[in-house]
Amino acid sequence: MKFETLAIHAGQAPDAATGASIVPVYQTVTFTHPAIGEDRGFVYSRSGNPTRSALETCIAALEGARFGLAYASGMAAIAGTMQLLRSGDHVVVADDLYGGSHRLFSKILPNFGLRFSYVDATRPETIAKALLPATRMVWIESPTNPMLRLIDIAACAQIARGHGAWLVVDNTFATPYLQNPIALGAHVVVHSTTKYLGGHSDVIGGAVVIDDEALRDALLFARNATGGVPGPWDAWLTLRGAKTLAVRMRQHEANARRVAETLRGRPELAAVHYPGFPDHPGHEVACKQMRGFGGMVTIELRGGEAAARKFCEATRVFALGESLGGVESLVGYPFLMSHAAYSPEEKRAKGITEAVVRLSVGLEDADDLCDDLLQALTLCR
Ligand SMILES: Cc1ncc(COP(=O)(O)O)c(C=O)c1O
Repeated sequence: MKFETLAIHAGQAPDAATGASIVPVYQTVTFTHPAIGEDRGFVYSRSGNPTRSALETCIAALEGARFGLAYASGMAAIAGTMQLLRSGDHVVVADDLYGGSHRLFSKILPNFGLRFSYVDATRPETIAKALLPATRMVWIESPTNPMLRLIDIAACAQIARGHGAWLVVDNTFATPYLQNPIALGAHVVVHSTTKYLGGHSDVIGGAVVIDDEALRDALLFARNATGGVPGPWDAWLTLRGAKTLAVRMRQHEANARRVAETLRGRPELAAVHYPGFPDHPGHEVACKQMRGFGGMVTIELRGGEAAARKFCEATRVFALGESLGGVESLVGYPFLMSHAAYSPEEKRAKGITEAVVRLSVGLEDADDLCDDLLQALTLCR
């Protein structure tokens, strides 16, 4: 079955007990046992819940993989994935990384004996150079947050596999509609479903997708042991959002392209980063591994911090806020918002300067979005 059909039907057969055509919200902690030692497939909602199972089956199907696990947030999914590791293990990380992942990798996990090396994975050979005997995992995002750099997933998978390490891809920005890392050789895909998968900025969630049964069992064991599961209402909202992922992504993409083209060449801007531009440094990689270029556009204001601040506070349709991937357009200031966890030097080294503004282009009318950005720009001269 094709993507649009899977999004609406995978894991979502009519309810066996009642025939309800929409998966019910199984708002229950426990499931009554017919007899001691017997159950009907569910025991206790931390371990398993039918609403959550429906979401997990659906997300796995969208990624073209066998297993999905839902988590309470994207960060819970990332922390859950790291529980595959043991003290002393080493991880090679693409240094262009969501600030929250960087915070977990630099401030929490070293306390448990994990070691991390950061590389510029836009050149995959840097991964090969950073591998140690103890390297068990390679971690990348593509496109990256917020600079929209592209990393060649198949090349990274080849390097990781050659070393017997797992390749993990945070696929939040691309979504399974545009990119399926497991088909490109990755072992694990993580999502903040808070973003495009949920799609309506009304529910925090995360997911991990895997094809390998032993990995699934290890992740499931760790999640049950540590408890970072979403409640049934949150799972239900995410599942409802996922049904329309394809149509939303098509419109996000069309609107983002209009916005990028409208902003390109404006005198107030030093750069417009959008992987759909043929001269974007990652365009070729994007064409190779993605089915589109997504809904994000990142700009750099010529007037530096003062202009960027003025711009972020002057938009009227684009709301100033954390997050991305919702139906409503958002403007973000990565230096002090999504990437606040990095030191100023680390941010500047990655090009995340005080002049950078991130746009999550929503589903409003494209003319309204472009008019809004242009009126805000005129205040930044
Ligand atoms: C690429 C990426 N991964 C993970 C996360 C974390 O997700 P959550 O906020 O759902 O915990 C985010 C959040 O912004 C993100 O942008």
